Amino acid sequence: MTLVLGIESTCDDTGCAVVRDGVEILSNVVSSQIDIHNAFGGVVPELASRHHIDIIIPVIQKALEDANVTLDDIGLFAVAKGPGLIGSLLIGLNAAKALAFATKKPFVGVNHVEAHLYAAMMPAIEKLVFPLLGVVISGGHTFLARIDAIGEYTIIGTTVDDAIGEAFDKAAKIMGLPYPGGPEIEKLAINGDASRYDFKPSKIKGRPFDFSFSGLKTKVLYTVKGQSSQMKSPLIIEESDKKHVAAAFQEAAFSDIIAKASLALEKYPDINGIVFGGGVTNNDAIRDIVAKKFPETPVFWPARALTQDNAAMIAGLGYHHYSQEGDALDLEPMTRLALEDLDNTYNKK
Ligand code: KG4
Ligand code: ZN
Repeated sequence: MTLVLGIESTCDDTGCAVVRDGVEILSNVVSSQIDIHNAFGGVVPELASRHHIDIIIPVIQKALEDANVTLDDIGLFAVAKGPGLIGSLLIGLNAAKALAFATKKPFVGVNHVEAHLYAAMMPAIEKLVFPLLGVVISGGHTFLARIDAIGEYTIIGTTVDDAIGEAFDKAAKIMGLPYPGGPEIEKLAINGDASRYDFKPSKIKGRPFDFSFSGLKTKVLYTVKGQSSQMKSPLIIEESDKKHVAAAFQEAAFSDIIAKASLALEKYPDINGIVFGGGVTNNDAIRDIVAKKFPETPVFWPARALTQDNAAMIAGLGYHHYSQEGDALDLEPMTRLALEDLDNTYNKK
């Protein structure tokens, strides 16, 4: 029996969780900084790292208390080593190293984006039949991967510019909506008519599995503020038209994900199901579209509490990645997502 204490501090959420044997969540504490960054329309890295410093020890204490355990009971410390903001990453990484050093227990650094996929697999881990198609739709990343086992991935396609969540946030900002924009667009889109605007997903010549969301974002900008306008330009549409823009944008973005996921299933007929991960899985519309599009395919979504950044997914994945020695205490943070870190044949193909 191994209790893993996981720490998450890649961006603007400070998280700590205690998870038993990679699956049973005993506690999952997340302190969000949305109120701090909202005034700036996005995450301010310096403010994020300062807030992590203030809050990380209380968050760890609360996770131990909620789980009704002490540091002595913990068998392994897991931390999100990246990708993320360097200042933010250093706080979580060093907290985990300090705990491991002081308690003489092992420590392991895990990939935050891989952990988003693990979040959906966690409750079903015993029943999963590999290979599966992994679809990451988060604020920082968008990619498709074939999953042959936990830790064994083949990247199928990725974004060449913005991530899908980033596109939601930018489209929302263009319309003057608060940060984070994803939930705001979703709310508006419910009453919108997507057919009012002709937004289409971008195609990249010769790369059928790759995504590009920056053209869609520019289309939103020119639609609501006029051709060749800029972020600060005034709106040229009525306030009441924003919902139609939100609906058209959301439909174009999701149809792109669905089309490329379908194509991946055609390419790999042995794939047994789809695993979705990342903050955009919080959106009910995509869950509905997927249910209609793939009625026969087993689909795994993260539980609501695990859609956004959290430490339970870090602790859970850390349990699977831990090998006898764990990582050395000089493990460096990884600011950018290295797809080669997940798929060592990537870029060599
Ligand atoms: O996965 P996440 O917590 O952060 C990264 O690892 O990047 O994802 C945050 C992203 C933000 O871009 C946010 O706008 C988006 O997830 N998001 C949503 C919804 N809730 C959060 N996007 C669309 N619809 C939502 N309901
Ligand atoms: Zn995330």
